[in-house]
Amino acid sequence: MKFERLPKHVAIIMDGNGRWAQQHSLQIALGHQAGVESLRAIIRESSDLGIDTLSLYAFSTENWRRSAAEVSALMSLLLRYFASEIDELDQKNVRIRILGDKAGLPEPQRLAVTQAEERTKGNTGLNLCIALNYGGRQEILRAARLLAERVRDGQLDAEMIDEEDFSQALYTAGL
Ligand code: FPP
Repeated sequence: MKFERLPKHVAIIMDGNGRWAQQHSLQIALGHQAGVESLRAIIRESSDLGIDTLSLYAFSTENWRRSAAEVSALMSLLLRYFASEIDELDQKNVRIRILGDKAGLPEPQRLAVTQAEERTKGNTGLNLCIALNYGGRQEILRAARLLAERVRDGQLDAEMIDEEDFSQALYTAGL
């Protein structure tokens, strides 16, 4: 492996869990569980290799339309994941960042992810971005609102808005 040519940012769409479960004649929740197991190895390896940023598309704004049982299984997995992994992630100097509308998450999940972000915000190793309740259009809308508020408050001239201002209004600001 050419370590000097490692990608700076790796992004993963957590797809295929359903197909994997079907191939193994298992319920979809077990497919998601297996997906999380793979994730552990991927995060550890990315951190050890010195990858700068790993982004995971875990739960989209559209995923709420899945069955109540599946959504509930995913939310439980999320809670269990943060409870069991946060110590090791913090020890590995991983910085966790959530991309998406945290306010729309159930209270226990919102608390768990917010605490994980707080706890790891000073870490300088792998940036682990987890897209949760994330939608691309929703992110653009949010950026438009944030920029509009800055213009309203006199902090920004609408005519002067540039790519950097827009980038700063995205969930990935600073990355
Ligand atoms: C796609 O499977 C996957 C998801 C909808 C959710 C993946 C998210 C998790 C497993 C939650 C845990 C996340 C973290 C970060 C701990 P699919 O059913 O669309 O699979 P398919 O492509 O086979 O149909």
